Amino acid sequence: MESHCTSPVASGLLKESSLMTASHDALVHAADGFRRIFGSAPTVIAAAPGRVNLIGEHTDYNDGFVFPAAIDLSIRVAARPRSDATLAAHASMFGATAQASLDALVPVREPGWMNYVAGTAAMLLAHGIRLRGTDLFIQGDIPVGAGLSSSAALEVATALALLSIADAALSPVDIALACQKAEHAFAGVHCGVMDQFISVLGKRDHALFVDCRSLSYELVPIPAGVRLVVCDTNVKRALTSSAYNERRADCAAGVAALSKHLPGITALRDISPEQLDRYGSSLPPNVRRRCRHVVTENARVQRSVAALRANDLSEFGKLMYQSHLSLKNDYEVSCPELDTIVDICAEEDEVFGARMTGAGFGGCAVCLVSAAHAERVAERLRTEYPVKTGRQPTVYVSTVEDGASVHPFRI
Ligand code: GLA
Repeated sequence: MESHCTSPVASGLLKESSLMTASHDALVHAADGFRRIFGSAPTVIAAAPGRVNLIGEHTDYNDGFVFPAAIDLSIRVAARPRSDATLAAHASMFGATAQASLDALVPVREPGWMNYVAGTAAMLLAHGIRLRGTDLFIQGDIPVGAGLSSSAALEVATALALLSIADAALSPVDIALACQKAEHAFAGVHCGVMDQFISVLGKRDHALFVDCRSLSYELVPIPAGVRLVVCDTNVKRALTSSAYNERRADCAAGVAALSKHLPGITALRDISPEQLDRYGSSLPPNVRRRCRHVVTENARVQRSVAALRANDLSEFGKLMYQSHLSLKNDYEVSCPELDTIVDICAEEDEVFGARMTGAGFGGCAVCLVSAAHAERVAERLRTEYPVKTGRQPTVYVSTVEDGASVHPFRI
């Protein structure tokens, strides 16, 4: 990676920004919702986007490379300070309200979504930020549990709203890290940092190349004339299910075993494909396959960044297909529905590449396609996927948008 770059939020402390990034209508809608539940206007509205990962899956928690982009689906949090130490939150997508005291923030069984709010507050307090009691109204259009990072967006939007109300600021990277910790400690998912990172640092028409070890990052422009078609299998499998944490454990087992041959390695990031060929035979077969995915995926991300910089979409697309096969065969996190989407896309000449995106086990696939054919490919998926799988998909032709923003609200 060449350097730390600057983005609209990276250069300073993320405190306030203009009304540029979130749609004005969406903010007004959130303010109306706040009024309906809490009786008067909010003082601030924060918005944070969901994401698709273009390539670099299950590499973030192996200190590796990822290449996600923020999309035009987001979570908005409208907020206003209260005079006590209570966080009172209403999630409009669940039609539910929950409360927590800033003096005693602990994970709760129900409602699960409150863990993202309370967890984020707890991690900001741990940073020494003096939070105030706050009413929060949560609204959004990121489908929940679809692998488009609705939870990271909720954490990030909550963090920005609470920071603004506390008149405090944190760097974008610290915000992402605090939100990741909230997910570990309060939701029990040992996720990497990718989702929170892109939700904070995304930029319109750019993908974000992140080195998850050094946390350096670089925005790479996405060439004009291409679109992302995102196809939700509507197969739900909670990320908290043991499979995600199991994959992490397999990777850790691989590192422990390989370190006998390669002293000093601390993560799969430290191993080259050649070293794995040489020493991998000592690993149990499933651990070897998990390691092979991560090691080859890291190499693919680096090649895909070079391809995008060179405007070589055909090379980029090939790497997407290879990534999907590796996730299917070696990491074993795909499913027949995701494979069906990728197979349909592969039949299209105007599609550059397609793959599952996010943790897998259901969720979404992403397809890179020339803009002129995006609607047609989306329509084909809407028609063919139900015939082949017996399920209805949700298909989005997405644009790539800016990361999180916060907007003071004045009546
Ligand atoms: C989820 C996690 C991320 C990442 C992906 C898989 O989205 O939140 O940190 O590990 O799965 O690449």
